Amino acid sequence: MKVLVVGGGGREHALVWKISQSPKVKKVYCAPGNAGTQSLAENVDIRADDIQALKKFATQEKIDFTVVGPEAPLTEGIVDEFEQVGLKCFGPYKIAAELEGSKVFAKQFMDRHKIPTGQYRIVDTPKAAQQILQSGVFSFPVVVKADGLAAGKGVIICRSLRAAEEAVDSMIVEKKFGDAGKVVVIEEFLRGDEASFIVVSDGVKVMPLVTNMDHKAVFDGDKGPNTGGMGAISPNPFVKQDLFNHIMKTIVLPTVTRMLEEEKKYKGVLYVGIMLTEQGPKVLEYNCRFGDPETQPQMLRLESDLMDILEAAMEGNVLSVKPKWNRKASGCVVLASGGYPTKYEKGKMIEGLDRVAKMKDVVVFHAGTREEKGKILTAGGRVLNVCASLDTLEDTMKIIYDAVDELKFEAMHYRKDIGIARKV
Ligand code: AMP
Ligand code: GLY
Repeated sequence: MKVLVVGGGGREHALVWKISQSPKVKKVYCAPGNAGTQSLAENVDIRADDIQALKKFATQEKIDFTVVGPEAPLTEGIVDEFEQVGLKCFGPYKIAAELEGSKVFAKQFMDRHKIPTGQYRIVDTPKAAQQILQSGVFSFPVVVKADGLAAGKGVIICRSLRAAEEAVDSMIVEKKFGDAGKVVVIEEFLRGDEASFIVVSDGVKVMPLVTNMDHKAVFDGDKGPNTGGMGAISPNPFVKQDLFNHIMKTIVLPTVTRMLEEEKKYKGVLYVGIMLTEQGPKVLEYNCRFGDPETQPQMLRLESDLMDILEAAMEGNVLSVKPKWNRKASGCVVLASGGYPTKYEKGKMIEGLDRVAKMKDVVVFHAGTREEKGKILTAGGRVLNVCASLDTLEDTMKIIYDAVDELKFEAMHYRKDIGIARKV
């Protein structure tokens, strides 16, 4: 079977790595891929959001199965477009991907169905925002979110009234996120530890993947602005069996069931970002895809064939597969370009990859990298994902950080506290 993976980050490298191990798979393509995916797949020079070009390529090459990494093509309807021409594409239809594509839709959906989440208000003018912010409904910090997709950067945690008003202005008036910020959600700030709860749904039933914890803030101790994720560990040390069951019962299953009832059948990966608050787990956001970097440690723990799970979900029978996961810990540390998540330079030479390739138990997934004349250069904000899976979290993180010490590029930065469980 020929498989196309859409995207070019660390998540896609991990998916390509896992899918290429499937005995069913003869060839993997990755569009556009990166310097890491090219050793396992054929990179195709098509952007992940160019749905028409992807569709043409998949038709010409007779791709049997497409797996989509990033959210943009999903919310733009890549699954619908592919199915119209008889191509199998794993992920939710456009109408269901709205759970990630519109925070307003997601909040109203949760409200309608009493799925626990923070208090919120929706505004589309600075004046309306001001009235709410000054009324005392919310204390500070307060969270200001652009309704639409903003590459993980449309969520601003504001410590003062002034900061909140500026955040609203940056979205509605200055249009920092284009149309995505025309409407804004003002949300109660939730405290606690985060859990990335990721399941594969066939539209009716769900199969949870192993639990996970992301580290969103750019600096150690959860300081600094949010990023797409600076590292992840699995399992999530805070999600024990009872809490896991509770989240499935009060959040994940109702989400899938209510979407079906609203005629927005949700098929694909459903990623629920959850804050474990003192009042119980509450939803921060829905994503309609695999996590990045969460997928990297998850794929290291998956002993079964990922294709079996994805195919079963597409056929409406996800629970027919009983995947095996290792009982170990796994982790991922993201090496980022200086300045990320704001402005950063590209084109820096990466050193040490050959040394790390010889380290037993360490796997490096590439994110923003490209090859030029045999050299590997930085090509994005998040550059490399250094991963391992050993018996304990402590051993896992030690070997990861030993490998990180071998890697170098100008202005490289990373968090040194990934996998150190803490209570806020
Ligand atoms: P979102 O894209 O909505 O998940 O937001 C990205 C990140 O912002 C989350 O993973 C949290 O770290 C943070 N965040 C979002 N909403 C809230 C909230 N209501 N309270 C506290 N932190 C939040
Ligand atoms: N790591 C966060 C995300 O994938 O959205």
